[in-house]
Amino acid sequence: MSGRPMIVIGSANTDMVMEVPTLPTHGETVLGHEFKIVSGGKGANQAVALARLGTRPVTFIACLGDDDFGRAALDNYKKDNIDTDHIVIKEGAYSGVACIFVAEDGENAIGVSAGANALLTPEHINQNEELISSAAMVLLQLETPLETIERAIDLCNKHNVPVILNPAPAKGPLDSRILAKVQLLTPNETEASHLSGIEVVDLASAEQAAKKLLELGVKEVIITLGEEGALHCTKQDCHHIKAPAVKVVDTTGAGDTFTGGLATALTEGLDIEKALLFANHAAALAVTKAGAQPSVPTREQVEAFLAEK
Ligand code: RIB
Repeated sequence: MSGRPMIVIGSANTDMVMEVPTLPTHGETVLGHEFKIVSGGKGANQAVALARLGTRPVTFIACLGDDDFGRAALDNYKKDNIDTDHIVIKEGAYSGVACIFVAEDGENAIGVSAGANALLTPEHINQNEELISSAAMVLLQLETPLETIERAIDLCNKHNVPVILNPAPAKGPLDSRILAKVQLLTPNETEASHLSGIEVVDLASAEQAAKKLLELGVKEVIITLGEEGALHCTKQDCHHIKAPAVKVVDTTGAGDTFTGGLATALTEGLDIEKALLFANHAAALAVTKAGAQPSVPTREQVEAFLAEK
């Protein structure tokens, strides 16, 4: 690592997690099993992934409420050696909360109440321009206001700082004006379907969706395909990197660990194939444990897993 900070700009949530036999459908009540409160939020999960996977220093730019959840989140980030100096605490706001059902097959359904995440403004990004200009890379997701995300992308482009946009959660197409400013986009299958208008059901449709996103102006796309691994496409070509087989316990936060792993490996100078291998192994380990941040593996765990044959 160069000593330049890796910066995550994004959401911080407290996850209310309930284990259920199957995900409830419309109007259905499902009797659940265990209930836990854990630290989550796509931005925070990615910051934790960077820190545990060995990136130093990691700075998290986010907005928390002045409540117990916010204070607990700050303590957790500090335990992971994340620089919290640029996190805003909004008086009178409540911290972001996610209600998560996790089914026995590891799949989940998530509802998020943004709370203070919705109060992270472009002005806050402007105040951090000097810091952003010094970054090795910036990671962004879609759980904070879009104008804030766009401002961050603009500043990164102004200062030639590489950006990864993890477009999660994507509900529909994203303005092509924004997509055209993005170097690297990392949607999962559902997000790639929403963003491209092409339903991703297999490798061939994933490739079509990736090509559509490239046509819309993104320079590089990585579609994460769960147990099938990841597909990396540029205008020149596409590569599929398989994921290692594991027993799935909970997929929550796996995409965040993947993005953190990818960013770590790329900033260490690994080529894209090796970076994807590292990210796939990190994400595979994450799905073997319950919870978003509790399941993020350490560098040593990922290296030991990579060495297994
Ligand atoms: O990506 C997983 C995360 O999505 C959870 O931690 C939850 O907080 C939601 O933001």
